[in-house]
Amino acid sequence: MSTTGQVIKCKAAVAWEPGKPLSIEDIEVFPPKAHEVRIKIGATGVCHTDWEYLYGTGMRSRPFPLVLGHEAAGTVESVGSQVTKFSPGDKVIPLFLPQCEECERCRSPKTNHCRKNWANTQVGVLADGTSRISCQGQQIYQFLGVSSFSQYTVVPDTSLAKIQSDAPLDKVCLLGCGVSTGYGAALNAAKVEKDSSCAVFGLGAVGLAAVMGCQAAGARSIIGVDINPDKFHKAKVFGATVCVNPNDHTKPIQEVLMHMTEGGVDYALECVGSTTVMSAALESTRDAWGVCVVAGWTETESMNVRVEKILMGRTLKGTYFGGWKSVQDVPKLVDKYMNNKMKLDEFITHNLPLDQINVAFDLLSSGESIRTVISLW
Ligand code: APR
Ligand code: ZN
Ligand code: ZN
Repeated sequence: MSTTGQVIKCKAAVAWEPGKPLSIEDIEVFPPKAHEVRIKIGATGVCHTDWEYLYGTGMRSRPFPLVLGHEAAGTVESVGSQVTKFSPGDKVIPLFLPQCEECERCRSPKTNHCRKNWANTQVGVLADGTSRISCQGQQIYQFLGVSSFSQYTVVPDTSLAKIQSDAPLDKVCLLGCGVSTGYGAALNAAKVEKDSSCAVFGLGAVGLAAVMGCQAAGARSIIGVDINPDKFHKAKVFGATVCVNPNDHTKPIQEVLMHMTEGGVDYALECVGSTTVMSAALESTRDAWGVCVVAGWTETESMNVRVEKILMGRTLKGTYFGGWKSVQDVPKLVDKYMNNKMKLDEFITHNLPLDQINVAFDLLSSGESIRTVISLW
């Protein structure tokens, strides 16, 4: 029976308030309005940013209750009026960063920072100021315009990438956030060069993807840095040439790396989201041309930069979604995976059903998982 134009009743993991585990609820998902698309979510990753907004401190608060999740893949169920690029049945990846293709930023090759609907998605609603999800008669806010911890969701048509029809949703979902972020941090932001030396701080999904990007760029040495040595085996699978645990050394990690590389690395990538690690990453780069890219996320904190470090020719930059122009580039990353030119399966350490999503949060915070993929059905 067609559900087009109907309110869909389904399951979602609702975050009723910060600091409390998610609760599996029967929710209602309203039909898409103009320029919106309703998606049946097939699979979703659980990202560090979901954890941060539920349990973290120091993050700007979002309105609650909300449905988290922003790293997903699914199938178009129905489209609202004026949607021209999508049809029911299309395989898609929802995007927390839109690409409207019209704004000044979308028209510039210099950036991927489209700001279409930005103000709305930051407060959990779509373009008309409301969300499409409700539970027990109450509006439930959407997270980053996505909300993939739900069997169905509605997203703007500028926040959706159409992907090839045989792509496995339970793998390519990872391209919706973490893997694309780390991989692009190396390729687009750092622009790692062949035969260069790199250090990647933090070997979670973002960091491992950064390692993979450094290897794809032909880096000669890739040093993985993590305080959890259990991450080292995987880092080597992705291309790390050596791994270092800062806790094994009495000197600060930047001094250890300076010594190991006789003057610093060409590129350092911060994939932790810690301001202390960001400073250490910058100070690990070589003077004259060292580049430090921050891919880890923190909103309110400041990092400490010793001015002399940048006066001596180092560059410090940040990246959002790895610099990818989301609508056009995510399908290309899917193609790369489908052509065996990029790893995804190796990031997935656990698979769980929706009703065990809180276990996925525990696995992430304890460092046991790289990515848990939640199947919604
Ligand atoms: N030095 C080095 N590594 C560290 C340190 C530190 N001081 N502190 C933590 N780590 C390591 C953790 O042990 C873990 O392996 O950083 C890694 C972070 O990985 P995840 O928690 O799996 O996070 P991930 O999903 O990869 O995201 C990393 O990028 O997009 C952002 O919000 C995200 O800020 C987060 C970052
Ligand atoms: Zn735009
Ligand atoms: Zn994420």
